[in-house]
Amino acid sequence: MEAAEKDEVIAVASDHGGYALKRILAAMLSEKGYQVLDLGTDSPESVDYPDYAQAMADAIESGRARRGVLLCGTGIGVGIAANRNPAIRAAVCHDVATARLSRQHNDANVLAMGGRVLDAETAGACLQAFLETPFQNGGRHQRRVAKLGLVASHSNL
Ligand code: RB5
Repeated sequence: MEAAEKDEVIAVASDHGGYALKRILAAMLSEKGYQVLDLGTDSPESVDYPDYAQAMADAIESGRARRGVLLCGTGIGVGIAANRNPAIRAAVCHDVATARLSRQHNDANVLAMGGRVLDAETAGACLQAFLETPFQNGGRHQRRVAKLGLVASHSNL
């Protein structure tokens, strides 16, 4: 998951709380040369965030996209919901530093953000950092991320 590959597919999904921001970020992605896989929602009408987090998890687990952006009012609901799927490492980020670290340390494959708590400029900068920052592979971070898989498969939670 390194720097922008021109025609890489990036999945985007939101509930109503993230809908306006999703439209802005989808346009930004298209401008940068990414293909956008828009999983909804398609209007500002109230919907349930777990449904869109599930759509994102399905798209990544099935390989339709390797990375995605999930939005709700805070980023918290979609983050919690998406992380129930062991294929997902969703990071709720509020600034460029957390977005960058989510890639370097956690190999996050989903960036979760809140349309009601972030302005579009900050969210766009977070997305750019998320897309362009590589995972620090091969050392302690790789070992720790590998343990996330073990936690998922041995947990009774
Ligand atoms: C919807 O009102 C809101 O609860 C949702 O967008 C999200 O912030 C949940 O975590």
